[in-house]
Amino acid sequence: MRFTSWLLAGMLTIQASTLCSAGPFHAQCKVEWYFGLPCRNVYEALVTQIKNWRTMSGCIMGGERCLYKLQSASLHFISAKHTTPVKKYVDDITFRLVSYGFFTHCHVSAMSVSETWYAVRDHGTNYCNLYNLMEGSGLTEAPEYKEITSDFMCTQRSSANCTVY
Ligand SMILES: *[C@@H]1O[C@H](CO)[C@@H](O)[C@H](O)[C@H]1NC(C)=O
Repeated sequence: MRFTSWLLAGMLTIQASTLCSAGPFHAQCKVEWYFGLPCRNVYEALVTQIKNWRTMSGCIMGGERCLYKLQSASLHFISAKHTTPVKKYVDDITFRLVSYGFFTHCHVSAMSVSETWYAVRDHGTNYCNLYNLMEGSGLTEAPEYKEITSDFMCTQRSSANCTVY
């Protein structure tokens, strides 16, 4: 009995550590962002940035700040697609916006998922899909800006170079 529970505990530990080091099994990324700005401002900044980067022109000098496509947009939910300029992989992006602090602050739950089901390693592309919009729109400079994510929530987050991806 004792042996069995030790074995079980050991197996769980191994499984948990494998999970943590490997990150998600499918290439994807989830990020929580917080801003000292009303959600309306965050919404407008994100939608404007997605539209500004819809053509190839942002990627002529390299990087992947191009080929975004707005799918739907309402004050609380934005959905878009991003296509990588070279290999044409498509990722689905969503932003959920929730106000807090009497509408003075905004919490954004962002998610990017590769449509290609076998994509496991993504060089941080899914993280960069989201982060580049935040940075390009100037939201990373917003008051009380805070980002919460990890390698567990985002494939290859810590090695992501968003200048390239
Ligand atoms: C990211 O890639 C660019 C272009 O190759 C390079 O100049 C830059 O140093 C890299 N940044 C990091 C943090 O590795």
